[in-house]
Amino acid sequence: MAILGVAEIIFGVDDLALCSRFWSDFGLVPLSRDDSESLFEVASGSRVRVRSNGDSRLPPRYYDWNGIRETIWGVDTAENLEHLVADLARDRKVTRSDDGTAHLFADDGQPIGLRVWNKRPVLSQPDAVNAPGCIQRLNQHRKWRRRAAPKTINHVVFFSKDYVGSFDFYRHRLGFRLADHSKGLGVFARADGTNEHHSIFWVNADLPFTPQKNGYMHTAFGLEDIDEVMLGANQMSEKGWVNESVNSSGGLSRHRISSAIYYYLDNPNGGEAEYHADTDYLDDNWVPRAWDWKFGSLLWAHKVPAFFRTDNDNWDMTFDPEGKSLEPFRKRNV
Ligand SMILES: [Fe+2]
Repeated sequence: MAILGVAEIIFGVDDLALCSRFWSDFGLVPLSRDDSESLFEVASGSRVRVRSNGDSRLPPRYYDWNGIRETIWGVDTAENLEHLVADLARDRKVTRSDDGTAHLFADDGQPIGLRVWNKRPVLSQPDAVNAPGCIQRLNQHRKWRRRAAPKTINHVVFFSKDYVGSFDFYRHRLGFRLADHSKGLGVFARADGTNEHHSIFWVNADLPFTPQKNGYMHTAFGLEDIDEVMLGANQMSEKGWVNESVNSSGGLSRHRISSAIYYYLDNPNGGEAEYHADTDYLDDNWVPRAWDWKFGSLLWAHKVPAFFRTDNDNWDMTFDPEGKSLEPFRKRNV
């Protein structure tokens, strides 16, 4: 079986017009709009659907603020979808909508869906990078861009009261792969049919700086390179969208885990929206790792968060092919 990544995320919001304008300004392609919902997509065909809170088509909340109400995972074939559904229906209710999408609840209570997805290939051509003694762009300037245009949905992020338990469901029932474990902070998992470092990340909800309950954090959209990330950041700023969390998220930064460059924006749809570039891409030859979370979180940051100092990093990373580092962090009966 192969789950190809996020086919669609469905938001429940308070202000449909404002939240739709955010996604349009962010660079998503608008597909349709009426009084009840807005629909956007990116080049890969991943979609963002925005509905007003109270819309009866939304699944029940499993956390108490706005954000993704349902994540629809895209499956490569009808045969594989039915295989997944048959297994899941053994121990939970699975409903089907008219288009064949299966709807169910993960073990942690999160509403999710599965549907056959014709994921479109995305071609990128980032500029070559020059360095002293390594000239890869001779007599050639970098690309000039008009605006940022997200190509993919790379990952979704949720707070979990039991992040190991949340991962267990995806690992054992949906075939997700362990990508990396940030010890005590959370676990990164990759859908088996995609190469982005992670398709979903669960953050420990019980840290001093996390909300002590299940919830939504952010969605990351893949861009071509750092130029496109920062053009997007600049253009969103010019349109009045802010990044209030700059002091905790770091502004423009690069993670050590996943290597990704990122920039968060506060999102009226809930949580944050992330411009994301130059992440690690993995396949099943990847060996998962266990990290000290402070060491793994950042390689550098524009606005250095309080927890991150370059002079006191705990250089702690070990290979963990079987995920044994998860066991001390497993909770039960939460
Ligand atoms: Fe992210």
